[in-house]
Amino acid sequence: MEASSLGVTFSVPYEIAAVRPLRQTTISERLEALRAAHLNTDLIPQDLIYIDLSTDSGVSSLSTNQLAALSGAKFVEPGMGLAVEGSLAFARLAGEAERIFGFPFLVPTTQGRTAERIWTKINVRPGSFVCGNMLFPSTRNHIEMNGAKLVDVVCDSAHDLTSHEAFKGNVDLTKLGAVIAGHGAAKISCVYVELALNACGGHPVSLANLKEVRAITAAHKIPLFLDGCRVLENSFFIKERESGCQQRTILEIVRETCALADGVTMSALKDLLVPSGGFIMMRDDASYRNASMQCFLDGAQLPANSMELLAAALEDIFAAESYITQRIGQVDYLWRRLESVVPLVHPAAGHAVFIDLNAFVPELAPEQFPAEALAGFIYQVSGIRVTKGPPMAPSQAAKGTQLLRLAVPARKYLRGHLDDIAEAVLYAYAKRAEIKGLKKIADAKRSNYDPAHFVEL
Ligand code: F0G
Repeated sequence: MEASSLGVTFSVPYEIAAVRPLRQTTISERLEALRAAHLNTDLIPQDLIYIDLSTDSGVSSLSTNQLAALSGAKFVEPGMGLAVEGSLAFARLAGEAERIFGFPFLVPTTQGRTAERIWTKINVRPGSFVCGNMLFPSTRNHIEMNGAKLVDVVCDSAHDLTSHEAFKGNVDLTKLGAVIAGHGAAKISCVYVELALNACGGHPVSLANLKEVRAITAAHKIPLFLDGCRVLENSFFIKERESGCQQRTILEIVRETCALADGVTMSALKDLLVPSGGFIMMRDDASYRNASMQCFLDGAQLPANSMELLAAALEDIFAAESYITQRIGQVDYLWRRLESVVPLVHPAAGHAVFIDLNAFVPELAPEQFPAEALAGFIYQVSGIRVTKGPPMAPSQAAKGTQLLRLAVPARKYLRGHLDDIAEAVLYAYAKRAEIKGLKKIADAKRSNYDPAHFVEL
């Protein structure tokens, strides 16, 4: 081979440095576990799970760089307290985040939802409206808890499960214009756009769309905020799918995406590969001081070692494009193994494969809990855990959409795991006539937020 040739492609940009052994369970053990969990896979103990697809959030494997940051405990400092200017861990994180995302101010928080709580407390006025693209339940709840009404302005194709459109997370500019015209710009607290839109299948938002949203919001002096927790996936898809972007680096696309926004709330548990942490990024000192004080009052400061872990993750992730390419390639592989047989949401996403339940188990009505029933069946046959996941957005619920998400944690599973997942789902599809609906057991002691208990119908 010539010295100048590219040689073999390194299809996996890491090697395994520490492992957690798994015990093979039997079908009868799994049936017993499912019974003990009242047929709710959410309640099955971790040691009885083979592959966990309930979330991609906070469950990716740590790198050796991160482990060194954790065990090194270079700085013994409090979290993001009032005297943050002196914190070395904060300085390192803020510097790394500014290099990547381009925002001069950053407030670290314990999670994405605390970032949203703080940011909406400061920016969302009671009696106002917020326009969003099918936002995550935590973002929606925080907007509504501040007394505003969230208006969904996502494009119609977000609801079309089989359309192959490239950017089904886009904002519908006509809908956005109509809300502004209908209520007046002064009544709109902000426009909030989620990237790689989780609710409808992980679909990206294009740069072209974001630029048009920016132009509209700027013309009306309405702040534009991003839920950026999957900005890396979104930027990968822009590079892959948006015309004129193929020659650009993902880092450039991430920066350009962020440059269009006035503020970003971020859960760091997804694209940024840490078990806890989030942050808010903003452009002006006054917002930074407000958010910082609110974070302090809410007790939502991120401890110093978590800031170090996050800074190390940012360094790793943006060192080369091979990490995100392999991560999305894995999800794409699983999607392709299932796609010709199983009814899936199209096109493939970056963090999960989504099953269209209405087509998978059409004979099960929504009140027969098809998601939980299919999840239970998959667990029985394979030990693989899938859970119902976050609730559908109101606009999806109104259309009767029902999805089951196979969320793939980053940097955790091998091709063999993905093949086993594919076999389990294909088997469940072949045997779908055997999947029985469920009935929820009424229990006054359990709140609506507790995982439900079920019996078979
Ligand atoms: N925004 C999006 C798009 C999310 O998917 C999540 C969490 C959050 C915000 C909240 O972040 O968990 O750090 O408080 N999603 C997880 C999931 C729970 O499984 O999709 P958090």
